[in-house]
Amino acid sequence: MTARLVSIINMKGGVGKSTTTVGLAETLAVHHKARVLVIDLDPQTNASIMVAGPDRWNQLHEDERTLDYYFEAYALQSKPKPFKSLVEKKVTDLKGNPDVALCASAPEFRTVERDMIEAFVKRQFHIEAIQKWICERFAQGFRTVLNDFDYILVDCPPGISLFAEAALIAADAIVVPTIPDYVSRLGLITFRRRALRLINERRGGPSALLVMATKYEEDMALHRSEAALLKENLGASMFDVRIPQMQDIARAAEWSDTPRTFEQKYGQGAGIIRAMGDEFLAKVALAPAL
Ligand SMILES: Nc1ncnc2c1ncn2[C@@H]1O[C@H](COP(=O)(O)OP(=O)(O)O)[C@@H](O)[C@H]1O
Ligand SMILES: [Mg+2]
Repeated sequence: MTARLVSIINMKGGVGKSTTTVGLAETLAVHHKARVLVIDLDPQTNASIMVAGPDRWNQLHEDERTLDYYFEAYALQSKPKPFKSLVEKKVTDLKGNPDVALCASAPEFRTVERDMIEAFVKRQFHIEAIQKWICERFAQGFRTVLNDFDYILVDCPPGISLFAEAALIAADAIVVPTIPDYVSRLGLITFRRRALRLINERRGGPSALLVMATKYEEDMALHRSEAALLKENLGASMFDVRIPQMQDIARAAEWSDTPRTFEQKYGQGAGIIRAMGDEFLAKVALAPAL
């Protein structure tokens, strides 16, 4: 089996994209023995540090094994680094060495995008050509590791980015974490329309676009009604699992130097993160391969 590419994406920031990516990676590896690669496309490096810890991330950064080095070749007109050399295996602070690997981001990634665009523009390329180059470069990279993993989870940056768009186009499945409130719903409708248009143009047919309620507060009538409304409109494309706003889930983000069990790490959130993984598999893994 070759890996399924899953992009975790939303235009909005702070909706739980990185938390969802890491939780999903860890439950798939621990409870389903899946081999998972997390690709961090966000220069904020949250997923990188959550999944590998600050020391290991520093080492990767020092060794020039962060994603910015993979994409900077065009701007510098130098030989690109092989994508495979960026992949750091066996990260996470969970006991039992679950199969979670990381392709880390770095703050410099932001500058690389700008420099790259500048280099393209100097050579009179249009934005479409730049987007195409990024998509191809991205696809070339993950293609070289497709056989090493069951799932490749891409944690996307918020906002509009050529990299996020590339991750959207390449994905077999897209997970959109969203806070169930009115403002988020407006954003979701716009984003979903644009995303569907982009992915429908993809060769091999459209990919699944799944929405998940995050930071859900059961005692807020607004959250209950908005989540129900999303379910009504989206049907099977909406997760039944809602990730509650919960201290233990936020706390799990902090790296532990002592390896811990999944239950120790996620505390009261362990059951729901596990249920998210189960539902994800039911929705994604059983869908026919594209
Ligand atoms: N279910 C949750 N319960 C409590 N806090 C959460 C939850 N999900 C995310 N957070 C917190 O909310 C903030 C944003 O989450 P994050 O996953 O970084 O979002 P994004 O990647 O979309 O910007 C972080 O401080 C994170 O710890
Ligand atoms: Mg994030």
